[in-house]
Amino acid sequence: MPSPLFQPIQLRELTLKNRIVISPLCQYSAVDGTASPWHRQHIGSFAISGAGLCILEATGVSATGRISPQCLGLYSDENEAALTDIIGDIRTYSDIPIGIQLSHAGRKGSTRPTWDLHKGHNVPDAEGGWAVEGPSAEAFAEGWRTPAALDEAGLKRVRDEFVAAAQRANRCGFDMIEIHAAHGYLLHEFCSPLTNHRNDRYGGDLKGRMRFPLEVARAMRDAFPKHKPIGVRITGEDFVEGGLNLDDAVVFARALKDIGMDYVTPSAGNVAPGMKLPKIGPGYMAHFAEKVKREAGIATMTVGMIYEPKFAEEIIASDTADMIAIGRAIMDNPRWPWHAATALGERIETPKPYARSAPQHWPAYAAIHGVTLRQGEGGMGHATRE
Ligand SMILES: Cc1cc2nc3c(=O)[nH]c(=O)nc-3n(C[C@H](O)[C@H](O)[C@H](O)COP(=O)(O)O)c2cc1C
Repeated sequence: MPSPLFQPIQLRELTLKNRIVISPLCQYSAVDGTASPWHRQHIGSFAISGAGLCILEATGVSATGRISPQCLGLYSDENEAALTDIIGDIRTYSDIPIGIQLSHAGRKGSTRPTWDLHKGHNVPDAEGGWAVEGPSAEAFAEGWRTPAALDEAGLKRVRDEFVAAAQRANRCGFDMIEIHAAHGYLLHEFCSPLTNHRNDRYGGDLKGRMRFPLEVARAMRDAFPKHKPIGVRITGEDFVEGGLNLDDAVVFARALKDIGMDYVTPSAGNVAPGMKLPKIGPGYMAHFAEKVKREAGIATMTVGMIYEPKFAEEIIASDTADMIAIGRAIMDNPRWPWHAATALGERIETPKPYARSAPQHWPAYAAIHGVTLRQGEGGMGHATRE
């Protein structure tokens, strides 16, 4: 029986060859928001991974919407040109769908890359930091910047920035967009009762708190070609008392579906200090995706410590989620999908120059991996042939 992990899925007119998605992974390696040579190799290596979809890192819709001064952005012509060039290059050797996660860091902006956090979270102005904005004028914690609460004009500006970035993403050649509404960044800050203490129509109950993220998503949907999908990374649980819970995620996902979003990835946490995480292990957020999928009727992606191919397959086979996203395991092993295919008895199309590395073309290697050769296989790989 074919492996469910390697069955295609359709999102609007985009076909993913399999259910394996490369999770957005901040690289803190851009200059003024512009992709660097590091991005070329990073995306380039993922482009030949065999995954069904690669989603680029949280990318600031404005300079002040970035997490760190080294984060990728999509707000200037230079940002757009560099990503267009990288995607153009990739298209010469790979047909992997490539998406981009568009984000605004809100009150958690102007912070250091993870490897510099020992110097303190906040980047001072003298080192390229900036004044941050959020739903309410409350800092994440001591030592972090206190945001200015966005007024109506500010909300319109940010909404327009998301729209402009979506249009740039289309011009760059991205096949889809993921909106970042999780991990304590601006759109999550609006949703969570822990961070949104507004008295206007963008605060109060869940309906009010969801209003701005929904307005942003709707405006982006209107501005992005109809045939290209848009998904949203949302929060399954804040894991802080009084925060968002899984029932709220279902309500948010329903509303996102109603305005034309194509999938959600329920992730968790990082909106406020004092998180009490349950025991975490492989697939620890898969039940979020399952409940949201069942109750909101929208396709879901799940993420979190998925590194065993068999386990990934079970998530899809049991209809717990429609797609699995992999982060750390695929940075560690960018050919994860090739190895998963081998482990699950599937074949993956490898780039021609690398084709002889595949076990099915190299009988001795196939034996090591327990791969039973099919008719016509095993003929390309004699190391002594040339
Ligand atoms: C280096 C690194 C960078 C990350 N950057 C992002 C990001 O840009 N956007 C996002 O939504 N999640 C980000 N995450 C979270 C991952 O996408 C993923 O959800 C998380 O690592 C759990 O999946 P994993 O156990 O497969 O790594 C990042 C994680 C890591 C380790």
